[in-house]
Amino acid sequence: MVKIVFKFFAVVSYLLIFRVLLAEPLLDGADFDYGEYLSGQCVTCHQSSSDKGIPAINGAEALYIAKRLVLYKNKELENEVMQLVASALDKEEIASLAIYFNSLEK
Ligand code: HEC
Repeated sequence: MVKIVFKFFAVVSYLLIFRVLLAEPLLDGADFDYGEYLSGQCVTCHQSSSDKGIPAINGAEALYIAKRLVLYKNKELENEVMQLVASALDKEEIASLAIYFNSLEK
């Protein structure tokens, strides 16, 4: 129950902060539920704590996550797996994943 209430507030504050106040272009079109859905393909590797060279991304800044994904997508960051993963994501998917992972506890 506490988690659901927290989630609700997280969603509301994202809508307010990102859509209205900051309007950060990298996070435009972010959809929390879609991010949660898409995260299924990430969590096989990304666990709640870093492991075997795979960084934990839970609770990271949304903008940080989105920027990293764009860098992998553009092949400006080296890592074959992440380049492949990110190349399949469009802008809205990146934004959605970023706000979703940001909402998770570290
Ligand atoms: C097959 C395993 C695997 C999958 C699946 C995967 N990742 Fe990764 N990810 C990695 C590894 C390994 C790294 C570290 C790469 C490096 O050293 O540059 C990484 C790095 C990252 C980073 C940068 C973190 C940082 O602090 O530098 C982000 C953000 C990220 N992944 C997001 C995602 C998202 C979102 C998904 C799902 C769409 C995903 N990853 C799917 C293995 C994976």
